[in-house]
Amino acid sequence: MNNLEQTLSIIKPDAVERNLDTEIKEIFKKKGFLIKKEKKIQIEKIEAEKFYKVHETKPFYNDLCAYLSSGPIVAMVLEKENAVLDNRELMGATDPKDAVEGTIRKKYGISIDKNSVHGSDSLENAKIEIDFFFKD
Ligand code: CMP
Repeated sequence: MNNLEQTLSIIKPDAVERNLDTEIKEIFKKKGFLIKKEKKIQIEKIEAEKFYKVHETKPFYNDLCAYLSSGPIVAMVLEKENAVLDNRELMGATDPKDAVEGTIRKKYGISIDKNSVHGSDSLENAKIEIDFFFKD
C-alpha cells in the first residue's frame, strides 16, 4: 500500500555547530528519505516559541526556545512511505541516553536538550511544522 508522507526534520544547533549536517542528511538519504526541501537558517527566539507552542506549559519551554534560536539550524521536508514514524524511529528516543544503537540521537546527541534532531510527531503536526518553515 502506498502511504507516501512528508515530515519535518530539523538538524539542531548542536549538530550544525559540529558540522554534522551533511553526515546526518546522508543517513536520511541512505534510509530512503528524499530531501524535498531544505534551508539553513537561524530563527529568532519568538519564532522558536511559536514553533514549540505545544510545549509552552512545560518547565523546559524557555530553555528549549532559547536553545533552538541559539545558532543555525537546517530545516528539511523529508518524504518517503511512512515518513513520520520512520523518521521518529531513525531519530531515536528524545533523551540520547535512552536511544538505541543505530539511531541519530544515540550517535550524535549530547543531552536531552542538545539531542541533534527534531522530527514531527504526527502527520497532522508534520503539515503544521512544514508550513511553519516552508510556506511561501
Ligand atoms: P524535540 O523532539 O525537538 O521536542 C521538544 C524538545 O524539548 C525535545 O526534542 C528535547 O530536546 C527538549 N526537552 C528538554 N527537556 C525535555 C523533557 N524533560 N522531556 C521532553 N523533551 C525535553
